[in-house]
Amino acid sequence: MKSGKNSRRYFLKTAGSLIGAVCLGLWGSMVNSQQKNISKKTISISLNDNRTVLFHDDYIIINKEQLLVLSSYCTHLGCKIQTFEDGELICPCHGSSFDLDGNPIKGPAIKPLKKFEYSTNMETKTLTIKI
Ligand code: FES
Repeated sequence: MKSGKNSRRYFLKTAGSLIGAVCLGLWGSMVNSQQKNISKKTISISLNDNRTVLFHDDYIIINKEQLLVLSSYCTHLGCKIQTFEDGELICPCHGSSFDLDGNPIKGPAIKPLKKFEYSTNMETKTLTIKI
């Protein structure tokens, strides 16, 4: 009787350890693959462009005193923002609007637009966005 209990306990302990090890391995490989996906996207824009707002693919480039690169996807449900009116970035789907720092002015969106780090090369007039 006692040995049956012990063997069951041994089995459960071993199975638990194996499942834990497999989960840790899977989690580690997921973290590694996500880290590999961090890349840089180079886009060519004219840094002499005097427009305040440039819509470029998935990005909104704000040209104020300093450049700012925002995601063009609304933080409410992900519609693509492609309109700049009266100093606001307007989402076409449910009416959210954002200021030029990406902060929500009007909902339903409550989170700011995602900001991206970038670097510029004045010789080639390119903007490199870290994604
Ligand atoms: S997706 Fe932009 S307001 Fe809903």
